[in-house]
Amino acid sequence: MPPKAFVFDAYGTLFDLTSPTRKALEERDRNNGTRLAQKVANDWRLKQLQYTWIRAITGFHTDFWKVTTQSLDWALENSNLHHDSELRTKLLSLYQTIDVYPEVVTVLSDLKAHGHTLAILSNGNPEMLATAAKSSGINQFLDAILSVEDVGIFKPSHKVYELVIKQYKCLPEAIQFVSSNGWDAAAASGYGFNSVWVNRNQEPVEQLPWKPQRILPTLKELHTSK
Ligand code: LAC
Repeated sequence: MPPKAFVFDAYGTLFDLTSPTRKALEERDRNNGTRLAQKVANDWRLKQLQYTWIRAITGFHTDFWKVTTQSLDWALENSNLHHDSELRTKLLSLYQTIDVYPEVVTVLSDLKAHGHTLAILSNGNPEMLATAAKSSGINQFLDAILSVEDVGIFKPSHKVYELVIKQYKCLPEAIQFVSSNGWDAAAASGYGFNSVWVNRNQEPVEQLPWKPQRILPTLKELHTSK
């Protein structure tokens, strides 16, 4: 396929949101660790997203690191783990150097080798994104890391998607926007991007006014599909 600009969401799409809790909780509790890791990861992510939406709607912006720590505190309390300050510190540290999903390095390296332009567009603040991209080794494939901090509002504000257009000076339909968050892929499609939803958890399509142009099970299928 001719060279394209691929813009990826970060957390949940490239970075594996279950890796911090798995690493911290599975070794801590051999019997119940896997179940607990899943519960804390789900609560953490759900609250993190809710807080970004509430902050965007009310115009009460703060950066994604703060939202990430506040949502972790809620998740730990919900599992009665909030008195364990060592665990909290460990989870936050693991989040900073979060793993990528297994296929990510091969896919990005392949796309890059075929001449495509690759970027991240994320709620993450620039420091978080730079640290995670460096520790996972994917920074070598990225032409740009765009953060919502440049506009001071979280996704799915169109101001965020507009950052890509300012960066590449092209029409929205020239951008392949890739996200594993159904709501992000839908809203990006509403903005005008060609959006790809990576439906990692086999969820139903979001009941929103906009639909992604393509749905793939993982990122692996990205470079083979049109
Ligand atoms: C991001 C969140 C939505 O990386 O996962 O923007």
